[in-house]
Parts: sequence; structure tokens; C-alpha cells
Amino acid sequence: NTSPRIRQVMGSLIRHVHDFARENELTVDEWMAGVKLLNWAGQMSDDKRNEGQLVCDVLGLESLVDEITFTLAGEAKDAPTATAILGPFFRADTPYRPNGTDIVLTKPKGGGEMVFMHGHVIDFRTKKPLAGADVEVWQASTNGLYEQQDPEQAEHNLRGKFKTDEEGRYYFYCLRPTPYPIPNDGPSGKLLTLMDRHPFRPAHIHILATKEGYRPLTTQIFDRQDKYLDNDSVFAVKDSLIVDFVPLKNDPHASLELEYDVKLVAD
Ligand code: DHB
Ligand code: FE
Repeated sequence: NTSPRIRQVMGSLIRHVHDFARENELTVDEWMAGVKLLNWAGQMSDDKRNEGQLVCDVLGLESLVDEITFTLAGEAKDAPTATAILGPFFRADTPYRPNGTDIVLTKPKGGGEMVFMHGHVIDFRTKKPLAGADVEVWQASTNGLYEQQDPEQAEHNLRGKFKTDEEGRYYFYCLRPTPYPIPNDGPSGKLLTLMDRHPFRPAHIHILATKEGYRPLTTQIFDRQDKYLDNDSVFAVKDSLIVDFVPLKNDPHASLELEYDVKLVAD
């Protein structure tokens, strides 16, 4: 009763894995080292850690699947917003917050620059703003940790879900993101070290934008000033997702501004 898809995918997987073993004349010890790494990833993994996903990501698999799956969004000026990987630190239960609120619930100890982020969600074909769209964002704190990795941060710190108003606008306060290493104390970190690669991700903010009748958009935006744009440890950067934080005057709450429109594709 195997489905045609399972038949195709598993057949192909087995063929490629066997070819991989033959091509490299894999030894029993090497194969066992691979098994151990998989077991280690499994043992380390839970909702907070997602080590299995991290292992896939340092091998470029999540970014490749993103590229294969979302072909329409491109780099052209009028293209819809490009997609990027979800990553391991998304949480499905992020609360709605009113527009204008601050997602920084726990002030970072090492300081941090406050950003007023705002923009419209628009239909990329008609250019019309979309009211009632959901814009969900999440980011790491300046210590490089997401809220679920860090007992010092309040639950849902640096996360929020915003509904666009009548004019299709969303707006809130957040931190200027900073670069940080992906968790380096497990199998994905071990793989990076073995390959002589660094674990850093360029500073980014995650966005998940949804609106009924439109293709859900999972993406990340990156700070143009970051030094890891060209060698993201998980290969997620796309040129069109690089943004500029600009100085903001006359706002007691933030010294920087980021205007960012999200352009969705109708189903
Ligand atoms: C990965 C993605 C992230 O957004 C992040 O903050 C850390 C790791 C990843 O793809 O593994
Ligand atoms: Fe991230």
C-alpha cells in the first residue's frame, strides 16, 4: 500500500545513500561514527533545542528545500518578498500584541539598540495594502539566545504577532539584531568544527506573514552592516532580504528605524 510518493522518495534516498557509501568506500567505523552522531542529535533534541534540524541546517538542507519549494519569489525589484528558512527557534504559540508595543520584555544585560519596525503587508500584484494580515516576528537577544534557550528571559520575550490595521500597517519596537553562533555544544557544532567552519549566523529578524487567500510567507531579514552575510552557517541569506536600519529622531523609545513592507502572493 505504499504511496507513489513514498516509493519514489525512499527509492531515491536508498540509491543515493548507497552511492555515497560506495563512492567514499565507507568503513564500518566511519558508518558507526555517523550512527553515533544521529543518536546524539536525537538525544539532545527537544522542542527547545531542535538539534536534528540544526544538523540538517549546517549541511544546507533546510535552505535548499526552501529554494526548491519557493521558486516564484525572486530578486527582481517588483518580486514578492523572498522566503527563507523557518529555523529551529520558531514557537507556534506566540501571543498577539497590539501594534505599537515593545517585544523587548527582558532588557538585555549587555545593552542593545532599540528599533521602531514598521511597514505594510501588501498584495504584490495589485500593490494594495492588506488589512487584517498577521505579521509574526521573533529574534534572539543580544546574548545570542532565543527566549526558550535562556532561563533569564521572560517567556515569549522578543516574539510577537501583529495584525495589520485598516491601512495594512503593522508597527512595533524590537532590538537591532546581533550576530551569534548557533548552539556549538552538540552534533551540529561538532560537524562545523570537523569541516573547519564557524557557527555564526548574521544578525536577523524572523518573519512569518499570513493572510487568508495568500501564500504564507516564512522569511528572515538581515542587517546590511553584518559581517557574516556572505558566510551564514546555515545558508539562509538572499540579497533581497538585506535591510538598512536608519537613525530615528524624536522617538524617546528607539534610536533606529526599520521600514519593511511584506509583499504576499495571492493563492
Ligand atoms: C538556525 C536558524 C536560525 O534562525 C537561528 O537563529 C539559528 C539556527 C538554523 O537554521 O539552524
Ligand atoms: Fe534565528
